[in-house]
Amino acid sequence: MDGMSLSGRTAVVTGGAGGIGRAICADLAALGARVIVADIDLVAAEEAAKEVGGVALRVDLTDPDDIDRFIGAAGDVDILVHNAGVSIVEPFTESDPAAWDLMWKINLRAPMQLTKGLLPGMVERGGGRLIFISSDGARAGSGGEGAYAATKAGLFGLAKTLAREAARGGVTSNIVCPGPTDTPMVRAVSDQHPGLLDKLAKQIPLRRIGRPDDIAGIVAFLCTDRAAYITGQTLSVSGGITMQ
Ligand SMILES: NC(=O)c1ccc[n+]([C@@H]2O[C@H](COP(=O)([O-])OP(=O)(O)OC[C@H]3O[C@@H](n4cnc5c(N)ncnc54)[C@H](O)[C@@H]3O)[C@@H](O)[C@H]2O)c1
Repeated sequence: MDGMSLSGRTAVVTGGAGGIGRAICADLAALGARVIVADIDLVAAEEAAKEVGGVALRVDLTDPDDIDRFIGAAGDVDILVHNAGVSIVEPFTESDPAAWDLMWKINLRAPMQLTKGLLPGMVERGGGRLIFISSDGARAGSGGEGAYAATKAGLFGLAKTLAREAARGGVTSNIVCPGPTDTPMVRAVSDQHPGLLDKLAKQIPLRRIGRPDDIAGIVAFLCTDRAAYITGQTLSVSGGITMQ
């Protein structure tokens, strides 16, 4: 199919060493992109980069100076996938403001700073792609994830504003919202609540929780030329558990 190749493009995937990030790296590389795996876990990032013939760069997304250093090291970037995220699950009234600060920094502030640093280059070179991995928890609410959902909902306002501001520069900006997806992030919660994943699967119209590949396919498509007319959109990939 014409317009599906990402050959000649450089893609940064934050959290690229994790469950969903690794699958996104694989699909972008399969379409021909040169992938930079950006993660705080350098050993895992190097492993992920090796799998896709890409490059690993360590970055601590809680540290603004380190993000600036990363932006300098990444060079020209055509595709920026804001995938890194953390979720600390606790009832909101019992939640710790230190956890809010951590989630704000990684889930929302870092995408802002990375975009501010890398978007001007995309526009100068005639185009690019911004993808924000949010969450169905931000669209529909999710028990125990008040602060997480707030940071992930912040991405909607940011991504849609960027879709308007960057359109004339040939840059699209879209949001992908995973539903419950089988990754280390979800395993960390389900290990403490045995049976949780089976219970969740029963509530999902397609009767299973997501796999990282389910998310990666649409992210890769949104980065191709075939998706050049799609911007400012939010797409849930959740087996139908949320429909809007
Ligand atoms: N798994 C799900 O069910 C689910 C559902 C909705 C949304 N999401 C979102 O999808 C994205 C990927 O989630 P996942 O399940 O693959 O998570 P994961 O925990 O498997 O991967 C997260 C990655 O982010 C990296 N990371 C964490 N802190 C970092 C920091 N300070 N600097 C740089 N990198 C850092 C980790 O090292 C890890 O590789 C996240 O934004 C998450 O919020 C996941």
